[in-house]
Amino acid sequence: MENTEKKARVLSAIQPTSVPTLGNYLGALKNWASMSADNDCLYAVADLHAITVRQDPAKLRKQTLEMYALLLAIGLDPEESVVFVQSHVPQHAELAWILNCYTQFGEAARMTQFKDKSAKHADNINVGLFSYPTLMAADILLYQADYVPIGADQKQHLELARDIAERFNGIYSPTFTIPNPYIGKAGARVMSLQDPTKKMSKSDPNPKASVSLLDTADDIRKKFKSAVTDSEAKVRYADGKDGINNLMAIYSCCTGLDYDAIEKEFDGKGYGDFKLAVAESVIENIKPVQDKYYELMSDKAYIEKCAAEGAMKASYIANKTLSKVMRKVGFWQIKK
Ligand code: TYM
Repeated sequence: MENTEKKARVLSAIQPTSVPTLGNYLGALKNWASMSADNDCLYAVADLHAITVRQDPAKLRKQTLEMYALLLAIGLDPEESVVFVQSHVPQHAELAWILNCYTQFGEAARMTQFKDKSAKHADNINVGLFSYPTLMAADILLYQADYVPIGADQKQHLELARDIAERFNGIYSPTFTIPNPYIGKAGARVMSLQDPTKKMSKSDPNPKASVSLLDTADDIRKKFKSAVTDSEAKVRYADGKDGINNLMAIYSCCTGLDYDAIEKEFDGKGYGDFKLAVAESVIENIKPVQDKYYELMSDKAYIEKCAAEGAMKASYIANKTLSKVMRKVGFWQIKK
């Protein structure tokens, strides 16, 4: 039977601040790829967000292109999904300014990411860092997104985007779709391999704490081998077993097995065997991504062409929302 229903609109973004971690991949990117077949998807490299922390310009430029290539490598088809770079679509910054004026100081000040990053970068608590979530709201609301696939750490920002959208719709008339988070079960919060009470993060100074999507198979094996666990020596999901819980979540994402099945598989076996199996499942998952990435990086002209087309398609959609917003707030618009 022909499906005549309108596809749901999906939008998400990732900062190009370094090679994505296994956390980014299992928490978000893997879902981006799986959602792309049945939905109308837009995915962005969030370079505007990246400069809320001081960046080296040459490095940022290089990492933005590399992140774009990685998005194609995880399986996004640029003909099927709109894949673009945030700064190539000026409507993001324009809508963000407008939304700033519909966001309360107290709301932005409550964001835990703002508090964490302010503590981490005490010498550069800039206004951009503070208004980061209104730019993120603009990213989402410009495209009238129904779903936003993210890891659990971005949920609070999404809730603020919903509040801003509802407020704007209430003051004027329905303008923005109210977006819903899409947070996967097992990979929503992949933790550090060295301190499983902390989330796995690109900025962790300890290289053994996080796995990057471009790590070699040997590095991945070594990192899992040295992952922090506990002294019980039993693979089971339970309170107080943060290290093992994290490895089970990773293994579950990579193999599709649920926790009961994992416990059965490793019944009577030690942590050494389990860690090795987790490492191999990760390698198996990301090897095709790596192969595709290196193939794509040998043809930069193709990547640039895709990014230029992506920006054009995104800008066309974004403009519709932005014009509507500008009309509603009362800006004088001259017909072209
Ligand atoms: P970013 O670049 O920090 O991370 C990209 C995505 O990866 C998820 N993630 C994780 N998931 C599970 N476990 C982890 N350890 C882990 N670390 C990161 C994040 O939740 C995110 O989904 N502000 C966003 C980027 C952004 C955005 C947007 C997202 C900008 N505009 C609009 C959605 C919609 C960020 O900094 O993600």
